[in-house]
Amino acid sequence: MSSLLDEIKTGVIPKHIALIMDGNGRWAKQKNQPRLFGHQQGAIAVRETLKGAILCGVKCITIYAFSIENWNRPKDEVEGLMNLFIKACEEELPNLQENKIAFKVIGNLSLLNQECLTSLRKVEQATANNTNLLLQVAISYGSRWEITNAAKNMVTDILANKIDLDNINEELFGQYLLTDPNNDPDLLIRTSGEYRISNFLLWQLAYAELYFTNCYWPDFTKEELWKAIADYQKRERRFGKTSEQITNNK
Ligand code: FPP
Repeated sequence: MSSLLDEIKTGVIPKHIALIMDGNGRWAKQKNQPRLFGHQQGAIAVRETLKGAILCGVKCITIYAFSIENWNRPKDEVEGLMNLFIKACEEELPNLQENKIAFKVIGNLSLLNQECLTSLRKVEQATANNTNLLLQVAISYGSRWEITNAAKNMVTDILANKIDLDNINEELFGQYLLTDPNNDPDLLIRTSGEYRISNFLLWQLAYAELYFTNCYWPDFTKEELWKAIADYQKRERRFGKTSEQITNNK
């Protein structure tokens, strides 16, 4: 067993890790390969990362697979990615079941084609009762869209007298988002040396620790994940309190 894994297992493991999987295109270009080859290798890196997460006890991984802005990419790349999602759904289902991984999609799914949506829903339904790890896949996702949509749905409920304006608070608003309000990410990892959030989980990342690595996503491995967790374990999460309060547990 890896000594890094042994080391991190003695510390606090983040329950939920969010991942911006960046650098597939640059990785492929370096190898004189088409961009889609980078995405295909990226899918393999997702599988490796899930194995690494399970080995150390992470309970939830949210990956940014396709942003709303990514719809503006060249048509053949968008099509290639949609086909990759469909293929991954078919190929990875046995692996998800074997490892008891629940699969959930978040995003503006009304923009997806029917074949892709059907494949994703099938895997969601088949894995819904798995409890080892939750894999949330953000597809056609944008955080500003999610927040705007939540506001729209909340106003609709106010107008229908389902909720009262006076009862609106952060907790209630959180319930209108696509994620579990009690399961915000503890750690965000972004690969490829870019230092941006790129419209990903803006509300949910409010208190997350941020970790950036130069590694391109297809090169990301279990060890890279564990390195990020080791770095996270060195941080002091204060949630606005003082260091003394945290030490004295007040
Ligand atoms: C960003 O790299 C990556 C994406 C937009 C696609 C991510 C998708 C996968 C890794 C496929 C696997 C997903 C599942 C659900 C199995 P980029 O294309 O922006 O790279 P660049 O910045 O180097 O051009």
